Amino acid sequence: MAGAPPLDPDRMPAHVAIIMDGNGRWAQERGLDRTAGHREGVESVRAVVRKAHDLGIKTLTLYAFSLENWNRPKGEVRSLMGLLEEYLDKELPEIMEKNVRVRAIGRLDRLPRTARFVVNHALKKTANNTGMTLAFALSYGARQEIVDAAQKLMRDAEAGKIDPENLDEKTFAAYLYAPDLPDPDLLIRTGNESRVSNFLLWQIAYAEIFNTPVMWPEFREEQLVDAIVDYQSRERRFGLTGEQAKGDPNGADEQGES
Ligand code: FPP
Repeated sequence: MAGAPPLDPDRMPAHVAIIMDGNGRWAQERGLDRTAGHREGVESVRAVVRKAHDLGIKTLTLYAFSLENWNRPKGEVRSLMGLLEEYLDKELPEIMEKNVRVRAIGRLDRLPRTARFVVNHALKKTANNTGMTLAFALSYGARQEIVDAAQKLMRDAEAGKIDPENLDEKTFAAYLYAPDLPDPDLLIRTGNESRVSNFLLWQIAYAEIFNTPVMWPEFREEQLVDAIVDYQSRERRFGLTGEQAKGDPNGADEQGES
């Protein structure tokens, strides 16, 4: 039978992060307004969340609204907030039934009252769920996240809770918005662009990046599977040699360095 090769259940990415791009272009190509693209994009969110859950992905992070997106026309911002509220309202029963935990990263304080209320409600209601984590990056910017972390860290240093001499990557990472989530293994960007657009800059240090020309409203179950098949074909080396990464003792450095 034609189609993508089957997925290897032992090599699933634990954390998939997605930059959902191309809603506007998808709509414009069809003579529709951008909002219609975002609306169709929500259908992709539904499909991808369900599929990720069925595939046993442990964490899915979706870049739903960046800090830069606040500068879009007011009407578009309003419509995006409305779609987010509608999505969370409508999906919450299924999210609960699937034992999914909703998380949100970003400057949630900047969200309009209703959106903040709906997001907080979803966070609280799902807080004890133990299945897949579905994280929304909302009013999110990675540089801001790093600055916010540095600020908290400096306050703790001032209060004597942390010694600057002992600062290491692990300690720093503990100050990020969701330090308990693992780093993404796979970063998908739709919409024919190859930028990372201020998304999870710290966390994607070793992520495999998958770009696709598919616009987000057309990225559905099949496209998610294709991205994971591509991910499974890659060799992840984390800075090691290919042999070391595979755990081949003969490939270890002759001088015994790690
Ligand atoms: C990019 O398309 C997408 C966004 C700005 C955010 C994604 C939002 C949704 C999928 C809808 C609401 C979200 C949820 C979680 C229910 P673009 O407008 O930048 O596309 P363009 O590059 O073609 O203009």
